Amino acid sequence: MKGILLTCAMCFLTRTDAKDLPVQWEWRANPDQWIPYDLASSSELEDSYQRRKTVIYPKQGYFASTADRYEVRFNYSTGRFQQHNLSSGGTRRVRRIGNDDNSILQPVAIEQVSSEDSCIICLDSFQDSNSASIDQQVVKLPPCRGHYFHRSCVAAAIKLKDECPMCKKKLDY
Ligand SMILES: *[C@@H]1O[C@H](CO)[C@@H](O)[C@H](O)[C@H]1NC(C)=O
Ligand SMILES: *[C@@H]1O[C@H](CO)[C@@H](O)[C@H](O)[C@H]1NC(C)=O
Ligand SMILES: [Zn+2]
Ligand SMILES: [Zn+2]
Repeated sequence: MKGILLTCAMCFLTRTDAKDLPVQWEWRANPDQWIPYDLASSSELEDSYQRRKTVIYPKQGYFASTADRYEVRFNYSTGRFQQHNLSSGGTRRVRRIGNDDNSILQPVAIEQVSSEDSCIICLDSFQDSNSASIDQQVVKLPPCRGHYFHRSCVAAAIKLKDECPMCKKKLDY
């Protein structure tokens, strides 16, 4: 629990801490802003997601102080997740940004990448995906064409900012 004392009182987590985690869970505060959950809430959501739970009443982290006031629903066929405030009836979208997620980090065949292309985040060139580690795989983001990155580089970037690091298009997912 010691990490929580060092973090923002509003969101429990600094965005820079979050970028190195393999998975980040966020809720949509308004149409332009996704806010990461604190570590404990996030790991409860991830655990439920891994177990393919469809409804949970979360109790960890932020939710510890609001016991039984929230319900989170996971719809795996649509990939849409929602948090319901049971006191107000309000609903917020919830999303998962996982380094392992191919719907956000879309794999690109090395043949599609020109030999002059390199990852603008780390500036290293791309390697053949057969020999590259999963982190070094070439990926693109859903709104873009022709903007390529290493999987782990862009995963870290989008956890800090909800946009393509090259063209600044918002990630609408
Ligand atoms: C998931 O969403 C679809 C489309 O809205 C809906 O038809 C389906 O019943 C939902 N599944 C669950 C388990 O809620
Ligand atoms: C949930 O609803 C209650 C009652 O309306 C409200 O006081 C609380 O701020 C709401 N929580 C959020 C996160 O919107
Ligand atoms: Zn890179
Ligand atoms: Zn782009």
